[in-house]
Amino acid sequence: MEFRYQDIVPWGRSFDEYLGMFDLSEDDLARDIVGIGDGPASFNSLMHQRGTPIVSVDPIYRYSEAELRQRIQKTYEDVIAQARQNQDKFVWTHISSVDELAEIRMQAMDAFCRDFESGKQQGRYIDASLPNLPFPDGRFDLVLSAHLLFFYSANRDLVFHLNAVRELLRIGTEVRIFPIVDVNSNPSPFLSPVVDELKKDGIICAVECVPYHFQKTGNEMLRLRAC
Ligand SMILES: C[S@@+](CC[C@H](N)C(=O)[O-])C[C@H]1O[C@@H](n2cnc3c(N)ncnc32)[C@H](O)[C@@H]1O
Repeated sequence: MEFRYQDIVPWGRSFDEYLGMFDLSEDDLARDIVGIGDGPASFNSLMHQRGTPIVSVDPIYRYSEAELRQRIQKTYEDVIAQARQNQDKFVWTHISSVDELAEIRMQAMDAFCRDFESGKQQGRYIDASLPNLPFPDGRFDLVLSAHLLFFYSANRDLVFHLNAVRELLRIGTEVRIFPIVDVNSNPSPFLSPVVDELKKDGIICAVECVPYHFQKTGNEMLRLRAC
């Protein structure tokens, strides 16, 4: 069986998963952070509770909390059914079963939902889409993006990937993208062409191992910096 999605789905991970996926240190957490394609992840909500608010960007933020809860429930049925059929694609150490996966993710997405309306009023959740983000050059110190670029290689082409990554670099000093494999844990066909183009622009590109390991081949992130 293969994972197959009609389009990019709203599905969100927990604060601890974000720490592992992006190998974030306490020093990193004190930086001026934006998450692109954060969807219903709980990272923004937990950062707000810690007193170090960040900005999240996603086109689903145009909806209300009630509409988002409905979309999450619909996605839940599909993602969990596909996860049951594809258990061989994951490492079941940190998360021990599909049931535990469902519980962790739903807790994270509930935390997001409870924070969403007030966070939107405070400007922490912004409705916008790659490859055009409503921020001036260099607005952020650290730009994070998970489970969007490279992950949905079947749904977006090389031109989109290249324009999107250039936009991430435009708005921030450092960019981290996780994972660099697609939904089926296959290497993204766009990684090498994107890295080759960025190197021509003088961008420092590094593929690094991270502590988070759930997809079998998915424990690496791409770190990008202008020279
Ligand atoms: C699978 S979710 C990942 C959420 C979160 N980053 C995580 O890792 O848990 C992918 C998100 O990307 C968002 N998305 C889709 N197209 C986008 C675009 N062009 N720009 C920004 N976000 C986009 C979707 O709405 C969705 O919420």
